[in-house]
Amino acid sequence: MATIEMKNIVKEYGDGFPAVNDVSIDVADGEFLILVGPSGCGKSTLLRMIVGLEDITSGDMVIGGKRVNDLAPRDRNLSMVFQNYALYPHLTVYENIAFPLRLAGMKSSEIDEKVRQASATLDLDEHLERKPANLSGGQRQRVAMGRAIVRDAEAFLFDEPLSNLDAKLRGQMRTEIARLQKKLGITTVYVTHDQTEAMTLGDRVAVLKRGVLQQLATPRELYEQPVNLFVAGFIGSPPMNFLPAKIQGTQVELPFGTFELPADKAAKVEGRDLLLAGIRPEHFEDVSVLEDVDEARTFEATIDVREWLGDQQYAYIPYDAEPNVQDQLKSLAREVDGDSLRTQLVVSLDSAARETEGASQLTIDLDKLHLFDPSSGENLTVGL
Ligand SMILES: Nc1ncnc2c1ncn2[C@@H]1O[C@H](COP(=O)(O)OP(=O)(O)OP(=O)(O)O)[C@@H](O)[C@H]1O
Ligand SMILES: [Mg+2]
Repeated sequence: MATIEMKNIVKEYGDGFPAVNDVSIDVADGEFLILVGPSGCGKSTLLRMIVGLEDITSGDMVIGGKRVNDLAPRDRNLSMVFQNYALYPHLTVYENIAFPLRLAGMKSSEIDEKVRQASATLDLDEHLERKPANLSGGQRQRVAMGRAIVRDAEAFLFDEPLSNLDAKLRGQMRTEIARLQKKLGITTVYVTHDQTEAMTLGDRVAVLKRGVLQQLATPRELYEQPVNLFVAGFIGSPPMNFLPAKIQGTQVELPFGTFELPADKAAKVEGRDLLLAGIRPEHFEDVSVLEDVDEARTFEATIDVREWLGDQQYAYIPYDAEPNVQDQLKSLAREVDGDSLRTQLVVSLDSAARETEGASQLTIDLDKLHLFDPSSGENLTVGL
């Protein structure tokens, strides 16, 4: 097992475009690190540079304290699991798992021990004599993992290993991978564009956008303290609401009302004019389910659609915004590969909230409000 240190890693392909641009990430021994970001942001490229399948244009790749820039993939002793698993169709499950060991010239008795150990860990015992074509997607996935774990590799590298599976199996395999990684304690770098996978699997998550590292933090920190609009919009489902926010002294004017800002936030945005406010759906509530209501934080909302899910309900509240704000929200939506962030507020309410005709009284938790600089995207209230 090993640490992986990426130091100012740059990858320029033939046309000079930096697919990975000055990325520095330290992965601790035994850590589960996620690389996440929209399609084309350089996740696979970065992973392939760790394994050695892609040359590094500049920067240092250090694995277990050793610079590996010039080492061939086989000399790096890493295990990679690809999206398509790359199993050999003509070999049995047993032989697929044994393959790297046979290649390394290991004795048959030792191979047998290792394969059976992996098979027991992965619950594959009854499938050892079958061919990959006769396995389910999840079983194939486990065979690919088996082939990776028999090798006693320094680290596991995964490139979107679950993207071919249906939603239910993806959920199950996600839990399996998390369990296995904890059990084996192997340093792992895992690429995905699925923010749910990123949030649930990772000790830490690195968010990339167009080859540039945006934020490297625990899932909770990414969710609660995103450093910029991109991270804020990418992490979370349904996504954070973004609203035009006009600062007036210590108050903020939002499309549905004007509120006093918490003092620490007000101090950070003193003298600013038009900003973008970000607030997550769960930081609203229907006053009908609350005992204590802070009148200064309530507003009246006309809900046009409700989605009642049993344990909660989503409510949609359209509002008007000026064309330039609308344009900005649309381009943000494109960047994060998101659904269209229309000029509507999405709020998550207690399932017991009454379905009233006409206007509802809602509260907003202003302590959870973020304020972003609309031109740089920077979160001006990060850490508060
Ligand atoms: N062999 C190549 N030659 C030139 N450009 C490439 C090559 N491979 C990838 N790129 C470009 O580098 C950028 C990053 O690609 P990469 O495959 O790393 O993205 P990704 O984040 O893995 O995306 P996805 O989620 O779609 O797999 C993209 O703009 C891509 O077009
Ligand atoms: Mg990729």
